[in-house]
Amino acid sequence: MLAYSGKGRFMVYRADLSSLVKEMTSILEVSISKNAVLNYNLANDLPAIEGDMTQIQQIIMNLIINASEALGDKIGAIYITTGLVECDRKYLHNENLLNDLKEGRYVYMEISDTGCGMKESDISKIFDPFFSTKFTGRGLGLAAVQGIIRSHKGGIKVYSEPGKGSTFKVYFPALETRAVPAPVEEVAEETSFKGHSTILLVDDEEPIRELGSLILASMGFKVLTAADGVEALEVFRKQKNEIICVLLDLTMPRMDGDETLQQLRLIDAKIPVLISSGYNEQEVVQRFTGKDTSGFIQKPYTISNLTGKLKEVLKIK
Ligand SMILES: Nc1ncnc2c1ncn2[C@@H]1O[C@H](COP(=O)(O)OP(=O)(O)OP(=O)(O)O)[C@@H](O)[C@H]1O
Ligand SMILES: [Mg+2]
Repeated sequence: MLAYSGKGRFMVYRADLSSLVKEMTSILEVSISKNAVLNYNLANDLPAIEGDMTQIQQIIMNLIINASEALGDKIGAIYITTGLVECDRKYLHNENLLNDLKEGRYVYMEISDTGCGMKESDISKIFDPFFSTKFTGRGLGLAAVQGIIRSHKGGIKVYSEPGKGSTFKVYFPALETRAVPAPVEEVAEETSFKGHSTILLVDDEEPIRELGSLILASMGFKVLTAADGVEALEVFRKQKNEIICVLLDLTMPRMDGDETLQQLRLIDAKIPVLISSGYNEQEVVQRFTGKDTSGFIQKPYTISNLTGKLKEVLKIK
């Protein structure tokens, strides 16, 4: 999966890394192999970190998927640990990070697995784009991770032994303030859309379709995807009886969101359509005034705001 910043938009938030992980537990569960057991060891009361939380969740996702893939079809464990560490010169020297960090306090996250591990000669290459030892790997996961960490002035450290497993430790600069605990923590538990059938997700960007599908699947939906309006209409015509909502991107090649909406309305005048876009709500509202949509969601979307919007649209408590 690629890092996605929403058509060039960079959204800055402050958050607590532990809450961010908690928010992802159900999506992580559906992303990993059945043989992997996830163990959490998350610190309370961490200072806030600052950055694009969608991107930081992307890091977590990419590292967890790699950990799961490293287990192959063997049973194994993945550990996610968060904490706070004071990094002085000596510590930084001993830790031997891949990039230089300033001295200071850092919030860290460590993801380790009991998987296949890596040869020393491979470790130096894993962050290169397109380096992959997997049959279907694109070798983009860790390249994206490193890019995101750099842009957040963070650091990363890798430790691995063949046959024993790997540990990736990621550092983010700690802010002086405590993070306001995110109210989204309970979302995963509280909300289950199981039994509420199918959502059609229309977006031309593959990373959005992948991430969106995982989020929706973790909520209990069955997900159909389409890469543009033409494809969306084809899928919709075939499966309109089971689709209960369409999540529709605005900017797409071949047939954009605008026209897709008009065509959809000819097939089904009532189906809820949630517009998603990297543009802000005001611009979208102007464009869609008088047209029949059920709501708008700003991209890049997070697990909690997608859950919230869908609840509104589908009138689920
Ligand atoms: N936890 C891990 N255990 C063992 N090897 C790993 C682990 N994480 C990464 N690697 C090695 O690093 C390589 C690069 O990882 P990266 O995530 O960039 O690409 P990929 O997983 O092969 O493909 P993609 O992420 O694009 O689907 C992997 O192919 C694998 O050899
Ligand atoms: Mg990967």
